[in-house]
Amino acid sequence: MSKEVVLSGIRPTGFLHLGNYFGAMRNYVRMQDEFNCYFFVANWHALTTHPDTKELQNSVHRVIAENIACGLDPEKVALYVQSDVPEIAELYLYLNTMAYKGELEKTTTFKDKVRQQPDNVNAGLLTYPVLMAADILIHRAVKVPVGKDQEQHLEMARNFAERFNHRYGDVLPSPQAFNFGSELVKIMSLDGNGKMSKSENQMNTLFLADDDDLIRKKIMKAKTDSGPTETNSAKPDYIENIFTLLKLVSEESILNKFETDFNNCVIRYGDLKKQLAEDMVNFIKPIREKAADIQNNKTLLSKIIHQGAEKARASASATLTEVRNAMRLNY
Ligand code: ADP
Ligand code: TRP
Repeated sequence: MSKEVVLSGIRPTGFLHLGNYFGAMRNYVRMQDEFNCYFFVANWHALTTHPDTKELQNSVHRVIAENIACGLDPEKVALYVQSDVPEIAELYLYLNTMAYKGELEKTTTFKDKVRQQPDNVNAGLLTYPVLMAADILIHRAVKVPVGKDQEQHLEMARNFAERFNHRYGDVLPSPQAFNFGSELVKIMSLDGNGKMSKSENQMNTLFLADDDDLIRKKIMKAKTDSGPTETNSAKPDYIENIFTLLKLVSEESILNKFETDFNNCVIRYGDLKKQLAEDMVNFIKPIREKAADIQNNKTLLSKIIHQGAEKARASASATLTEVRNAMRLNY
């Protein structure tokens, strides 16, 4: 039996952080043996909000390098840049004829963007979900690992696929959101306000490109309090988050020691943060260094990007041939 197709995209709109790692990239890496995987950098999507292409170019390279540094193997998966696959743009055009202005205007992310950038409400923003549907349907992907905020977009992709099939014949399978494994980790910001994010809370977000001292500085500043006064108390959010990080990057015995100290009201948060800082440095450092090596090796980077584009285009053009045949666009 052929492997199911998995696809996901990351917008190159900033530095990747620990939330992206544990919420997305770690799962991509785990999926690469079991599924036929397509992972790409959504640079066309980024243009709808970040028109400065000089910065975009660096970000695209960094996202590719960081994904490989985190363990994605470009030999196993198709790792590519969206704009290298023109077939996506053609499918986007066809799907645009099946997407209605009313439903696009009602999309939550569109309404958010209109509020955030009232001077740049471009048509690309309005049709963002159509382009995302084209990204997915061009490889006939059925499993799409994404966060909750993307579920509405996925539902729209299913609608567009169904409309296409109804109008022109059964070509496009229905994609579903996919959560690999049972636990969905959410990494909170170090001050306990909201989640770690590319664009907000930068001093409270740990980026994969942060140097050792910056990692230490951010962790030592993380919000704590004077500690529990009753044994076995519930942990406040911001303390829970420090324990979550410890669980992800430290040894079990260390986690257990601090859990016990907390439950016995003898925890010293200074020591906890020092330990976490060192373990985090050891976790991030090899990723950062590997990513920097790849990013500085333009020949290698370009080889990987070309190889990804070739794989993606092979699959995309096969779908497009079927789409054109179904639409009688084969003169
Ligand atoms: P950001 O909010 O930093 O811009 P994106 O929205 O581009 O990140 O998300 C890219 C991927 O990373 C998504 O799959 C999303 O679910 C995941 N992700 C982002 N932030 C976090 C976080 N703090 N904790 C867990 N997963 C996250
Ligand atoms: N819209 C997604 C985000 O903001 C990125 C994305 C673009 C994507 N195309 C996709 C995700 C296709 C999954 C599948 O995070």
